[in-house]
Amino acid sequence: MSQPTKGFSRRAFLRGSGVAAAASSVTSTQSASAAIVPVPIIAGETQVSLTVNGQKKTVTVEPRTTLLDTLRYQLNLTGAKPVSSDGSSGASTVLVDGKPVMASTTLTVAVSGKSISTCEGLKDGDIPKAFVSNDAQQCGFCTPGFVVAVKAFLNQHPDATEEQIRAGLNGNICRCGTYANVLQAVIALVKGNQNG
Ligand code: FES
Repeated sequence: MSQPTKGFSRRAFLRGSGVAAAASSVTSTQSASAAIVPVPIIAGETQVSLTVNGQKKTVTVEPRTTLLDTLRYQLNLTGAKPVSSDGSSGASTVLVDGKPVMASTTLTVAVSGKSISTCEGLKDGDIPKAFVSNDAQQCGFCTPGFVVAVKAFLNQHPDATEEQIRAGLNGNICRCGTYANVLQAVIALVKGNQNG
């Protein structure tokens, strides 16, 4: 076996490596802390204030609580439906500050201070009436989401063509297949310039 080179030993090498590693560690930590942007971390339950259908509400939720669960199980607003946890059915559509979102994929803490509109807030408007008069529901499970989606769509496209209506509402699924009647309801709303 060869002898260690004069002036260099395994012990000295390890000692030197340790210092280098420690120095490297300090440098990395300092770089990382400089790059981190502090964000509030919510642990445990927290209070969230919302305006829901024009009324101020304060709820206590966990960080993981969805807006859909808050609406249904704390505020007793059961119109928006838990059909798809990924929002692909459109059945949990609500408006947040006027924009349609899926309540099933929205955290309540993310909409703190915002204005929420659900189908319950539209019940006396022209959209539900148009759905009824055009027989645009069967089981009705998709209908609340459709009503809110139509509201958001017509706010943006009050003079929509049939083609635009078809494209604008294609995120809402009806397993009963009432699409033709929903289409007629929205066409009637556009013709009557009625926007719930
Ligand atoms: S009316 Fe039954 S799912 Fe649409």
